[in-house]
Amino acid sequence: MRTIVVTGGTDGMGAALARHYLAAGERVVVIGRSRAKFDALLADTASQSPSAPSSAEFIAADLSLVEESRRVVDQLKEHHERIDALVLAASFIRQRRHPTPEGHEASWSLFFLSKYLFVTQLADLLRASDRPVIVNTAVPGARAGAIDFDDLEMVDGFTFKRSNAQQRRANELLGILATDQNPDLGYVTWGPTRLVRSSFAGEVGTGMKVAAAVLGSLAGQRPDDAIQPIISIIDTPKPGRAAYRGTRTRPLTVGAHDEDDAARLASAVEEVL
Ligand SMILES: NC(=O)c1ccc[n+]([C@@H]2O[C@H](COP(=O)([O-])OP(=O)(O)OC[C@H]3O[C@@H](n4cnc5c(N)ncnc54)[C@H](OP(=O)(O)O)[C@@H]3O)[C@@H](O)[C@H]2O)c1
Repeated sequence: MRTIVVTGGTDGMGAALARHYLAAGERVVVIGRSRAKFDALLADTASQSPSAPSSAEFIAADLSLVEESRRVVDQLKEHHERIDALVLAASFIRQRRHPTPEGHEASWSLFFLSKYLFVTQLADLLRASDRPVIVNTAVPGARAGAIDFDDLEMVDGFTFKRSNAQQRRANELLGILATDQNPDLGYVTWGPTRLVRSSFAGEVGTGMKVAAAVLGSLAGQRPDDAIQPIISIIDTPKPGRAAYRGTRTRPLTVGAHDEDDAARLASAVEEVL
């Protein structure tokens, strides 16, 4: 039985993956804020595969808080000897800059600081797997210079577009750190080819809400369909870094100083964590 950890596993694509792997008889650890959503997921899974929920575990946490991410990582290390697949899919879209009670910028904290902690601190558990894989649902393809190393938390000049591009690029560089530490690890940044009709959790303006609702209903994919390529990546993992949109690999963005940028990012993040 594999151990599959899914952040944001209570809704959208994360929940679809959790349901799939529970039905397949794997051990699944779901991380999210809502126990009610997890209970609904279990009930849904049980109605189709009665034995599945016994291998499910829920950890309630707000991963926009560094302290909570650390607590989850500690809990995983205490209760598990191995992680075969780590899916990073927690998402809460904010169009505006939002400081957390810890003083971090909320999107940077949820979409990068938390993922950095999971990837670096769970390295030993992933190393214990024969074919470990991380699927990071940060859409690949942001430009190499998208990171403002002098103002990672965007105190000045925050826009949704800049913040989104920066976390996506940072998550690609995180793959360099992860695979340097563990050459057997598969590290995939993945995005869907088109909008997925998920919960689209966030605090966004009416324009974005309406656009997502309209696009979703006209051309959106069901989460159960959108995750099929992720299942294939998890079930046939390949060592090293890769980028995907849907089923198709995309070239990794290559900048002039990727190794240096990854190291610079790590040292800047270590200073604030
Ligand atoms: N949907 C798309 O079209 C699309 C496109 C490109 C990329 N993606 C990426 O794919 C991934 C999954 O997206 P989705 O649209 O399927 O997600 P979603 O339906 O919006 O669900 C978000 C998940 O994140 C959890 N979450 C939100 N805030 C959290 C927090 N502070 N701490 C812990 N968990 C939190 C939610 O659980 P609780 O409510 O229980 O907290 C839920 O399980 C995301 O990384 C997203 O950026 C999606």
